[in-house]
Amino acid sequence: MNLDGKVTIVTGAAQGIGKAIALAFGKQGSKVVVADIDLQGAKEVAEKIQSWEADSIAIETNIANLGDIRRLVQKTLDQYSKIDILINNAGINFREPAEEVTEDHWDKIMDVNLKGAFFCSQEVGKIMIDQQGGKIINIASTESEGVIPELSVYCASKGGLLQITRALAVEWAPHHINVNAIGPAYVRTGLTEEWLKDEERYESIMARTPRRRLAEPEEIAEAALFLASPSADFITGEILYVDGGWRAL
Ligand code: NAI
Repeated sequence: MNLDGKVTIVTGAAQGIGKAIALAFGKQGSKVVVADIDLQGAKEVAEKIQSWEADSIAIETNIANLGDIRRLVQKTLDQYSKIDILINNAGINFREPAEEVTEDHWDKIMDVNLKGAFFCSQEVGKIMIDQQGGKIINIASTESEGVIPELSVYCASKGGLLQITRALAVEWAPHHINVNAIGPAYVRTGLTEEWLKDEERYESIMARTPRRRLAEPEEIAEAALFLASPSADFITGEILYVDGGWRAL
């Protein structure tokens, strides 16, 4: 796939799935803005892309903060003059029984997973409306439509993200802006590492996954490349599950 000349912002791209997406887009020739609260990690990803003689910058961004989001968009425009693709990937989680969820945890999860993704879309959406085109891809989850115990707030945030995906897809379709989501099953990253160490839990995930393995971060990146490509120009408001059959079971 050729993304030469495209400008892509990936949030939460210092590690995990976001990093794999940033690298994959850089490899295909896109200019990549690596946005993360972890500036050092983001710089390392941008430097890796630059080492392929591709263009990339790291911008420290807390997507829970609207001022940071506006700075991210302005710096991207100062550097590259346009934004073709936004990947709303940054996400966090706390695993706890519903009866123990605190207001602080609720706010933290919603501020990143839902509010952050919405306002990144809004700020970038304004530019895409001016440009009359663009692609927004939200990293949702199998838990956008299913549920897992002890993940009530995370499930609510990812369900909400799917509804935002549909709402923006419909509203911005006249501006030639595609808005889609990807629903990964378990991927071994900083978010899940500890959780997957429990052997019993890991086995239960394998039993629940027809393909009997975890997803690789690069497989989520492949789906993002597809949704960002002209092959997906008529796909909007959709969620593409990359889950080894999890949702089909
Ligand atoms: P991760 O924890 O490895 O990476 C998340 C990245 O987001 C980190 O670099 C972190 O610094 C950054 N981040 C966190 N809060 C931020 C904020 N406020 N502003 C900017 N950046 C921030 O997580 P992973 O697994 O790579 O997850 C990426 C996305 O994929 C998340 O939205 C997650 O919910 C989703 N996902 C992950 C799955 C998995 O099994 N790992 C499965 C399904 C969805």
